[in-house]
Amino acid sequence: MTKRSRRHGPAHMTKIRLDNIILTKQNRNDTCRRLLIFVTMTTVAVTLGQGYTQYKEYVDYHISMCFSVVRNTMYGTKSLLTTGNWTYPALPTEEPWTLDEEAAANFREELEQECHIKRDISLTKSSAKVGKKIVYDVEPQHYVTLAGPMYVLLPETSPFDGKFYNTCAVVGNGGILRDSKCGSEIDTADFVFRCNLAPISRYHEDVGTRTNFTTMNPSVLKTYYNRVNSENSRRRFINRLQEIGDGFLWIPAFVSKMGEREVNLLNSILMGERLNGLPLQPLYPTKEVTRAIFKFWNTRKLEVPRLTTGLCMYTIAASVCRQVALYGFYPSNHDREGNRLPYHYYERRSRYNFEQGPHKMYNEYKALKSLHDKGIVRLRERCKPLPSYVYAMRNNPHYRDDRGR
Ligand SMILES: *[C@@H]1O[C@H](CO)[C@@H](O)[C@H](O)[C@H]1NC(C)=O
Ligand SMILES: *[C@@H]1O[C@H](CO)[C@@H](O)[C@H](O)[C@H]1NC(C)=O
Repeated sequence: MTKRSRRHGPAHMTKIRLDNIILTKQNRNDTCRRLLIFVTMTTVAVTLGQGYTQYKEYVDYHISMCFSVVRNTMYGTKSLLTTGNWTYPALPTEEPWTLDEEAAANFREELEQECHIKRDISLTKSSAKVGKKIVYDVEPQHYVTLAGPMYVLLPETSPFDGKFYNTCAVVGNGGILRDSKCGSEIDTADFVFRCNLAPISRYHEDVGTRTNFTTMNPSVLKTYYNRVNSENSRRRFINRLQEIGDGFLWIPAFVSKMGEREVNLLNSILMGERLNGLPLQPLYPTKEVTRAIFKFWNTRKLEVPRLTTGLCMYTIAASVCRQVALYGFYPSNHDREGNRLPYHYYERRSRYNFEQGPHKMYNEYKALKSLHDKGIVRLRERCKPLPSYVYAMRNNPHYRDDRGR
């Protein structure tokens, strides 16, 4: 090693002999002159230009280090373009994990005392009167008056009243789910939570087929269904709703007045389709429940400006389920082997700035990982190892997988 590296390298760095290194590929055109070399699954060597090389060994830990974008990476290079220099113990595909019944029950009790999720999960006809004014979270000077289709669509009473499920799956939308082969495992759960009406039909092997509860931000209508302004987009949207069967569609309708138009459109579609026999039950989260969930995590040292829908779904699941497994919760643009991951499993090339975006997924991940270690929730990554052909394809810049949303 050069003087340079001795001066800069952290104390716990381990030197390894160069002839042990398998140099996968170099990146010639990279203007930053940064090169990542993967040695084994557990040893990472990083060259920071000008011959300054760090080697680091990880026995139980894998690392994603933060560097500026490595451009024009060549086929075979497993570059980590990602987020923070975060390290944490790997979760193997086959991992013994056991539920700690007592710890999970204690957690559930705390949660139910502070959040009243079973009671407040949705406005109901028995709890809210026609004409009730509900102010928006973001613009409290504006409000919605509960009336018309929204009132008609409300459930009579809380759908979780007196309910308790044995096993639940919460499916986040993280890119780690792509090629995870977790579908059949997810489908064994008694109750499946999903987020934001994510597509499932082209991803059954990875994400399963069943849905008992899914959220839908009103903006989804605009972003993915062109406000159903054509016969085709309308059909696609109705088909997607039909996949929910007689499950619940949770619509955060009181976040911002900006979503008003979509909420009204959505309510009128749901009214119309209910008459056509669409069996799903819409739910409208109360302010009490969303605030309480936010507060619950913030008083537990998880300081995030905005909770992700995924964490919110986990919180709900934790209060109505004996055993919860999480899928698609993984806060990085790369998996542990350095393969690129899209932000969402149903996108091809999206990225999220995990450090600067409003969602602090790494902080959430740490909180969930600590619950995982206590036997309270099970975090899953892949359910089968990534097949080698996918592994190779993923890192080929010419790789095309046209399954989109
Ligand atoms: C990365 O590591 C450095 C040095 O250990 C630390 O100062 C910095 O805060 C870390 N960054 C993140 C995002 O954790
Ligand atoms: C969950 O949904 C599946 C079908 O999607 C259904 O068969 C099952 O009964 C539902 N579970 C509960 C507890 O409602």
